[in-house]
Amino acid sequence: MRLLNFWNSLGITALFAFVLILALGSAARTEGPVTSKPDPERGLEVAERVCTNCHLVSDRQTNAVADVPGFAAIARQPDQSEGAIMARIILPKHPMPVIPITKSELEDVAAYIMSLRSTE
Ligand code: HEC
Repeated sequence: MRLLNFWNSLGITALFAFVLILALGSAARTEGPVTSKPDPERGLEVAERVCTNCHLVSDRQTNAVADVPGFAAIARQPDQSEGAIMARIILPKHPMPVIPITKSELEDVAAYIMSLRSTE
């Protein structure tokens, strides 16, 4: 009887350990992109998806709305920074609408726009 109980509890412990490993494993996987540094390449992809309706986001784009500042011009503004760019996306001035993107997409886009400043 005692021996049976021992094996039984061992089985449960093993099951717990297994579940814990699974939980930790998936937590580690979902953490990756969230904690990673802003990625300008990904920012360009996001911008090409949601900003090109109005802004000229890169050289490979041929059409944009007149009077909307291009990303290169935004990047070149004196005292421009990632923070200022993110603020203008979170709280846009009319007629720019609020664009539904995630926080990490926002950081990536700001990093992409600032990358245009250094290459000019
Ligand atoms: C529906 C058109 C539209 C879309 C889509 C749009 N914008 Fe804009 N955006 C504008 C207009 C118009 C302005 C100029 C508003 C102003 O400051 O007078 C502007 C201004 C800005 C500014 C501030 C520029 C400055 O001079 O300081 C930033 C930064 C910006 N947009 C980033 C973005 C990003 C990044 C996206 C995509 C995630 C985006 N916009 C999508 C229309 C748009």
